[in-house]
Amino acid sequence: MKKIIAVDGPAGAGKSTVSKIVAARLGYTYIDTGAMYRAVALKVLQSGEPLSESLVGNVDISLDEAARVFLDGREVTKEIRTPEIGLGASDVAKVAYVRKKLTQLQRDMAAHGKVIMDGRDIGTQVLPNADLKIFLTASVEERARRRLDELTAKGLQADFANVVKEISLRDKQDTEREIAPLAQADDAVLLDSTSLTIEQVVAEILRLAKD
Ligand code: DC
Repeated sequence: MKKIIAVDGPAGAGKSTVSKIVAARLGYTYIDTGAMYRAVALKVLQSGEPLSESLVGNVDISLDEAARVFLDGREVTKEIRTPEIGLGASDVAKVAYVRKKLTQLQRDMAAHGKVIMDGRDIGTQVLPNADLKIFLTASVEERARRRLDELTAKGLQADFANVVKEISLRDKQDTEREIAPLAQADDAVLLDSTSLTIEQVVAEILRLAKD
């Protein structure tokens, strides 16, 4: 069994949904690195100050076994799930000292193995020696449809055209940034989930994990 699984891909590809299920089936810990960038974005927003090294230096971000997210000791799991915080996360994720701090935290979290970690640079930068690397993608339209469903299920207002715009902007920012851009690692397995069900993607990852 592969002890460390890295799942990368663009926004809305289904990384967290399938990673959570795979983690539960294998008895692994799921680590959502996007949530950590979102927590930094929330911290900046709430501080009313521009992003600075001291603001990030003092930040305390943790995830628990239930994938709840804590910022400076306060639970922010739901608060970070808005399109604005998604874009804010994509902005702070361009900054070298933010990536350095979160990358170190993420490596520490994976140190004991039995983890599935999702993000944008897990297979390329954070855990280049991961036992299994997946690059999970889907068409922009399909990803936007899923995001819209998620947002409306939470009672948040959104429309399809705006979600496509937000996802496209994040794709652009995440793939074009200078440091640790979103990219498929050379040794990653490409999975296109556009016309696959969640269960089909989960089954494929479990099959690859057992090889
Ligand atoms: O996975 P997500 O949508 O919650 O991620 C939010 C943003 O955080 C994403 O647009 C880019 C950034 N991010 C990153 O740069 N590196 C990661 N490993 C995870 C997320």
